[in-house]
Amino acid sequence: MNTPPSPAEGLPGPEQATAEDVAARVVAAAVWAPSVHNTQPWWFSARGQQISLYADASRQLMVADPGGREMMMSCGAALFTARLALRSLGYIPDTFVLPDPARRSLVARVSWQRRADPTDYEQQMFRWVRQRRTHRGGFAPLPLAPELLTVLQHGAQRDGALLRIITGEGRRAALAAVVETAERAMRLDSAYVQELARWVSPPGSTRADGMPDTAYPAHPERTDPYFPGRDYAHGRGWGLPSFSFGVASRSAGVVCLLTTAGDRPEDWVNAGQALQRALLTSATCGVAAALHSQPLELPWLREYIRAHWSDGTYPQLLLRLGTVVQAAVSVRRPPGSVLFPGGGEPPGAGHE
Ligand SMILES: Cc1cc2nc3c(=O)[nH]c(=O)nc-3n(C[C@H](O)[C@H](O)[C@H](O)COP(=O)(O)O)c2cc1C
Repeated sequence: MNTPPSPAEGLPGPEQATAEDVAARVVAAAVWAPSVHNTQPWWFSARGQQISLYADASRQLMVADPGGREMMMSCGAALFTARLALRSLGYIPDTFVLPDPARRSLVARVSWQRRADPTDYEQQMFRWVRQRRTHRGGFAPLPLAPELLTVLQHGAQRDGALLRIITGEGRRAALAAVVETAERAMRLDSAYVQELARWVSPPGSTRADGMPDTAYPAHPERTDPYFPGRDYAHGRGWGLPSFSFGVASRSAGVVCLLTTAGDRPEDWVNAGQALQRALLTSATCGVAAALHSQPLELPWLREYIRAHWSDGTYPQLLLRLGTVVQAAVSVRRPPGSVLFPGGGEPPGAGHE
């Protein structure tokens, strides 16, 4: 991976920045957070030195995510990115998660008054906000530094989550089989298939959300053990050409489960924050992540994973980490289309 450009290039430097400039920079970074099927289920309202982050329920996956868990995780990832952007500007964010019980779509309020220089770690993470990509496939058969895994685990704890490394060939293979079971079940369920299809764009599309054909391989690689990816192409031949001709299967990488002690909306937001911290920390070390939420969208398989791999904590996402050359390209809606200055809101947002 090369040194990435700053997510907020072209905007005024922190010294001359007004509150509006700061909000614009923060949202310009936050939109690059990962989200399920790239639904980008968020919008932002800015007033003075405060940004409110809202979940956009019109973008929720009503089949795969009827409870809004993945939507709130996606918003949590955007929240972490917004906080990190403030740190990169030398502000200390004051964050209130789910501050208004009467307005459940209000995920967080973040304000900034106090200043402190960003640390090297924060600056390094911030440089990867825009460049980081979700990987879909196998990894080089190289071990990861044990120190990185320790740092990732401590980072998850800071955000109120747990990152459990799944070791032992038998346990890894069994978890892979659960992912495969989920993927098969979803491919046979027309409601899941139709919902996924609504978030996949044909080649050449100018759509700024969902899954472009530049984000996934046309011929999914087999990993060992086999963790199948989502069926974005659905037999249409869309996707990136393969880079691993002649290789029967590649390493599945280090398999991890991101879990939380509870399973309330605040736990989902925390899991999303922990996810983005883990992804950006990994990226600073040249490590990419593949994500699997298929079994966690089926309550019976989620419960099975909770009982057998999570010590009773609630599994929120399965990650595979490893080194790989990435070619994927993703898309985002322009920050201006999701940021409402002066305390504004999108039409119809007041109704819950
Ligand atoms: C809660 C959540 C669940 C996700 N589940 C999957 C998944 O099952 N398979 C997958 O390939 N990517 C998954 N992703 C990654 C998104 O598809 C990805 O973040 C989005 O397409 C944007 O691309 P980018 O991460 O490369 O910027 C998930 C992301 C989130 C936040």
